[in-house]
Amino acid sequence: MTFIPAIETRRARRALSTAPVSREEVETLLRAAHLAPSCNNSQPWRFVAVDEPAVLAQVKEALPGGNYWAKPAPVILAVASRRDLDCMLSDRRDYFLFGCGMAVGNLMIQATSMGLIAHPIAGYKPEQVKIALGIPVDYTLITLVIVGRPGDPSTLSDKHRAIELGPRDRRPLEAVASWNRFEFKDPAANADGGPAPSAHDGAAANAM
Ligand SMILES: Cc1cc2nc3c(=O)[nH]c(=O)nc-3n(C[C@H](O)[C@H](O)[C@H](O)COP(=O)(O)O)c2cc1C
Repeated sequence: MTFIPAIETRRARRALSTAPVSREEVETLLRAAHLAPSCNNSQPWRFVAVDEPAVLAQVKEALPGGNYWAKPAPVILAVASRRDLDCMLSDRRDYFLFGCGMAVGNLMIQATSMGLIAHPIAGYKPEQVKIALGIPVDYTLITLVIVGRPGDPSTLSDKHRAIELGPRDRRPLEAVASWNRFEFKDPAANADGGPAPSAHDGAAANAM
């Protein structure tokens, strides 16, 4: 069984160098993202590529301590969208987050194949970044993608260095995929329909 190399080698790398990434390289990443499929070809993604030092510094000020590792990045991509920019179907099937995820997936694979790091994060103060970049309040700032070149793992915290140099961490396939019938016993969602806790009690007869 073989995987496309970029899928197999992509990791959420945190050891970044300050070496520049050219606008041409960034545009290649954005073009790869823009080739992603979307519902009714809505193309809901809006990217703001940040490489100007003063603006970059403002975005980095919105990172919490845990994302200290992103500070050397020469480029950060903001990914924003709005619910009505993509299909809104029954059963709460709003596709804008899905579409943007598809685009960022393409972008990460393209980056890996170019020897670059493209690490999406959710840990930032969204209002602060939206003001810094002029993103209207009715858009959701879905993620920041930290872009750069590989750096020195010794700059990382002990925890992050262990992750960086350790093996890939995934649940067994049978915990997330089954044949012919839904066989998962995820904990109940919160009353508001919010996310269930991460504990998992998966697996059964039809599990892969
Ligand atoms: C939507 C999203 C948000 C994430 N947020 C952060 C973050 O704020 N900080 C961080 O260090 N890593 C973040 N990550 C990276 C994940 O922790 C990482 O992808 C996961 O642990 C799996 O590791 P792998 O990508 O190397 O396989 C995020 C990833 C995604 C897709």
